[in-house]
Amino acid sequence: MSIELYEMNIEDYDEIYQLWENSEHIGLSEADSHFGISKFLERNPGMSYVAWDGDKLIGAALCGQDGRRGYIHHLMVHPDYRRQGIGRSLVGRCMYSLTRIGIQKCHLFIFEDNEAGTAFWESLGWTPRVELTMMSHFLDE
Ligand SMILES: CC(C)(COP(=O)(O)OP(=O)(O)OC[C@H]1O[C@@H](n2cnc3c(N)ncnc32)[C@H](O)[C@@H]1OP(=O)(O)O)[C@@H](O)C(=O)NCCC(=O)NCCS
Repeated sequence: MSIELYEMNIEDYDEIYQLWENSEHIGLSEADSHFGISKFLERNPGMSYVAWDGDKLIGAALCGQDGRRGYIHHLMVHPDYRRQGIGRSLVGRCMYSLTRIGIQKCHLFIFEDNEAGTAFWESLGWTPRVELTMMSHFLDE
């Protein structure tokens, strides 16, 4: 087994979406359509990564920035490949890509009941922001 990490390419969208769709704790929406991810990758070149085992896609992480802060979305490693450092490596690539352009802090959203996910992020030094609540509004209403 030889795991390789590459920059995310929109040509691999179907495999990436399938991985996310079959994952626990990943919330998908219209923003994750082919069009949406394509726009995201164009806007944030060289920041999102995937992991392959040969021709099998086994991990993905979306990363972007708004000029001020970085954001990591939809980190997922196939269940058969967990606890081998692949999640950590994907996040490392994302964080390096942000550091390289001077972004000093990165945020992420995680479902409250995702205990394994929280343990993962905490093991990498991320801190839960218990003083904050996320609020959202659709813009076409
Ligand atoms: C979270 C996830 C991406 C971790 O991927 P992974 O490749 O297994 O993680 P790593 O092997 O790099 O783990 C690094 C460290 O995180 C911690 N960790 C990872 N999974 C953990 C778990 N299930 N429980 C407790 N700690 C965990 C450990 O400290 C681990 O180091 P160790 O294996 O040497 O003890 C993976 O479990 C996953 O895809 N989960 C479903 C989707 C998800 O929840 N994504 C996060 C959304 S915010």
